[in-house]
Amino acid sequence: MENIRVQGWVRTRRDSKGGFSFLEVNDGSCLKNLQAIIDANLPGYEELTHQLTAGSCVDLLGNLVESPAKGQSVELQVAELKVYGTADPEKYPLQKKRHSFEFLREIAHLRPRTNTMGAVMRVRNRLAWAIHKFFNERGFLYLHTPIITASDCEGAGEMFQVTTLDLDKVPKVDGKTDFSQDFFGDKTGLTVSGQLEGETYALALGEIYTFGPTFRAENSNTSRHLAEFWMVEPEMAFYDLDDDMDLAEEFIKYLVRDVLDNCADDMAFFNQRIDSTILDTLKNIVENSFERLHYADAIHLLQKSGKTFQYAVEWGCNLQAEHERYLAEEAFKKPVMVYNYPEAIKPFYMKLNEDKETVRAMDVLLPKLGEIIGGSQREDDFEILVDRMKIKGVDPEEYWWYLDLRRYGSAPHSGFGLGFERLVQFVTGMENIRDVIPFPRTPKHARF
Ligand code: 4AD
Ligand code: MG
Repeated sequence: MENIRVQGWVRTRRDSKGGFSFLEVNDGSCLKNLQAIIDANLPGYEELTHQLTAGSCVDLLGNLVESPAKGQSVELQVAELKVYGTADPEKYPLQKKRHSFEFLREIAHLRPRTNTMGAVMRVRNRLAWAIHKFFNERGFLYLHTPIITASDCEGAGEMFQVTTLDLDKVPKVDGKTDFSQDFFGDKTGLTVSGQLEGETYALALGEIYTFGPTFRAENSNTSRHLAEFWMVEPEMAFYDLDDDMDLAEEFIKYLVRDVLDNCADDMAFFNQRIDSTILDTLKNIVENSFERLHYADAIHLLQKSGKTFQYAVEWGCNLQAEHERYLAEEAFKKPVMVYNYPEAIKPFYMKLNEDKETVRAMDVLLPKLGEIIGGSQREDDFEILVDRMKIKGVDPEEYWWYLDLRRYGSAPHSGFGLGFERLVQFVTGMENIRDVIPFPRTPKHARF
């Protein structure tokens, strides 16, 4: 018997004829509710218990005892009870029945009180912690790269603009916006990647990683895209592409193992309610090595798969989600790392191979999800980098500071970016990326 205090939100109340009320209370610390028993002899019983409807908030003092009944090992015998806030049962949107995830997205401020969102957020939290642990154990330095920047790392024209100019009275010179009058005196936007700034620190401090918000004005309304997401980007001096792939594989395995070891209850819930194969899938990831496949071989495999894809497959094409999933889910039934992509479809900073046709790029593809990581060895040759910039329409003068890294003490180096929400999605088995971030930002949706 132990005297404890519990503060949390009522999930359900049941009144028994024997002069007791049973409360299921949850404070978010774990999936399971605590059963609390209120004796009808408790002072104020009548008045207090009728306020204890789903969603109300309580403070309970009492004895924690072994439970004689099935379903829980312990229960709380309430000695003192206080109601902090009631929740009108006629209006509280989270009633006992199961709600669709679409509906829950419309009440993003209340959905953390559901079992699923609670479990997702605990796993998300554990993964964030495990990411820092992984890098810290390996001597990587955690670097904060800027959120406002003038460089479009991926060159895809997907930057959100940041400006204090009056949009009704934009100053112009020769018909073009005069950014010299803007706050930063320059055209700026929200970062699409911290990589370029990360490289500058890797080429001084050795091994660094960033972990921060990333923004893309990409009009993709899919279950894998957000306009605001979190990305983890390690960048390492003296790593070649093989080292980069080794680290990516070790990283994903470490994170999956950490969640299996530390979030057993939440993971059992996902396996039971969301995706009955998730535990097997994750064990399979930890136990097997990832397949490494040349882009050219991937194309070959896709062509002879006998499948009809929506997007045609030929050397030089971008791999679409359907192709990525075929490789990881059907062809190999495990994670696949595709590398050496055609230079024409990849950004300027990737190292050109000797064949001059391909770059030292790699993507990690996971079953059910597709791409989770994109990375590469970086071009460390000054002349080749300038050429690649010109071909890609990137002005070398604007990137003089990036080129300086190749002018002074250039070194082979590599890195990758892992989409944090895609990781949470993969580990929990959740189908939609909007349900693994507290407040999703997607086209036409940023109000709350
Ligand atoms: O492949 P991406 O575009 O690579 C980069 O940004 C590199 N600069 C990374 C690097 O080498 N340091 O993005 C990396 C990952 C993707 O594999 C994906 O997991 C995630 O970021 N990602 C997104 N996640 C959610 N919503 C989006 N719109 C995403 N775009 C990319
Ligand atoms: Mg990519």
